[in-house]
Amino acid sequence: MNKVFITQDIKSYCEEYIELEFDPDVRKYLGGLPRKSKEEMRIHINLGEYDSQGIYAIVDVSTGAFVGRCGYLDDNGEKEIYIVISKKYWGNRLAKPALQELFKIIGRKNITAIIDPENIKSIKLFRSLGFQESCCVISNCWQQKHIKFRLDD
Ligand SMILES: CC(C)(COP(=O)(O)OP(=O)(O)OC[C@H]1O[C@@H](n2cnc3c(N)ncnc32)[C@H](O)[C@@H]1OP(=O)(O)O)[C@@H](O)C(=O)NCCC(=O)NCCS
Repeated sequence: MNKVFITQDIKSYCEEYIELEFDPDVRKYLGGLPRKSKEEMRIHINLGEYDSQGIYAIVDVSTGAFVGRCGYLDDNGEKEIYIVISKKYWGNRLAKPALQELFKIIGRKNITAIIDPENIKSIKLFRSLGFQESCCVISNCWQQKHIKFRLDD
């Protein structure tokens, strides 16, 4: 049996999701726009606005606890995937099974991941899933170049 399942029902994990988004250690290597306020995020989640955006809550099968989020951004057919595990669950080997659940939903074609070159844990994780370095990417969202990894199945 898998250790985790993933679900688009973000509303059921609203508070844990918000806590994750505001943890500076978790966000260290993540780019993107500055977070909204917690209250604003709570409103958007409860309106169901996160439920159909390719975002999945990762849930521990044995405890029912929210352990993180994963998902993808669709860029002209290329799916850029991401994963974020809550700090208290780091090192529990939950990231790989969560991404394997995601592949069951989105397949393994045209899948990429953009990773900070200093994010060694993440690079190891994605390499162990078969991703290979493809090119450098530069964006205003990040302070330095990132590496695009590609899953070539
Ligand atoms: C990256 C992240 C998802 C990994 O999750 P984790 O719970 O820390 O790691 P896991 O226990 O699931 O281990 C997954 C793999 O990471 C690697 N890993 C785990 N801990 C590591 C460590 N301390 N040092 C180096 N590699 C490590 C291993 O290769 C492991 O694979 P294995 O099980 O085959 O040995 C998590 O640390 C995280 O959410 N970080 C913040 C957000 C982030 O950087 N997301 C990725 C953006 S691309």
